[in-house]
Amino acid sequence: MASPILFFGLLAFVFLAASASDPSPLQDFCVADAKSPVLLNGLACKDPTTVEASDFSTSGLHIAGNTSNPTGLSVNPIGATQIPGLNTLGISLFRFDYAPWGVNPPHIHPRGTEILTVLEGSLEVGFVASNPPNRLITKVLQKGDVFVFPIGLIHYQRNVGKKGASAIAAASSQNAGFIPIASSLFGSNPDIPSDVLVKAFQVDKNVVNYIQSKF
Ligand SMILES: *[C@@H]1O[C@H](CO)[C@@H](O)[C@H](O)[C@H]1NC(C)=O
Repeated sequence: MASPILFFGLLAFVFLAASASDPSPLQDFCVADAKSPVLLNGLACKDPTTVEASDFSTSGLHIAGNTSNPTGLSVNPIGATQIPGLNTLGISLFRFDYAPWGVNPPHIHPRGTEILTVLEGSLEVGFVASNPPNRLITKVLQKGDVFVFPIGLIHYQRNVGKKGASAIAAASSQNAGFIPIASSLFGSNPDIPSDVLVKAFQVDKNVVNYIQSKF
């Protein structure tokens, strides 16, 4: 007979594995009804008899986004707003465009693993594993290369080529969530008390106030 420790360890693992992705749908599809006021885990489904092919489709992802902004990044998200038919199916897509110096700053997706493929250019990508040992896993990707960012870990991308770069990424959630590290910590509303950030970052209060002023 297996030991109780093994049993409960296995149970915990099964529970974690089961809770690490969107819940399984209970119907073939649940095309989001944009007009429904009903709130549930996902969006309410519209009457299946009114569903059309266009509910499962969008277009324009071949068009590069405008990267004239402070981070040199454009994000074109494809979620249940753009494709109502992906509601409840545990998946979403993004197009990223990067200026030659562009950065997708360190951030977390609390509910989804991300898989990214480079369409054009070269990207340095990386994520940091849990503490300890805070290991940075990083790689320079070329056109056609694919990289995975595990769910819940801090990750970033940076264009290291001389020209613009672009990528397509998919997430294992219809709403993977987005926690930008810098603005979450220094641009929260209301502010995190600056003495908390002074101790967390081991810097002078003026430095904290300066960074807060940027967000
Ligand atoms: C790109 O965005 C910038 C800043 O918002 C704007 O000034 C510029 O006109 C945009 N360019 C295009 C081609 O839309």
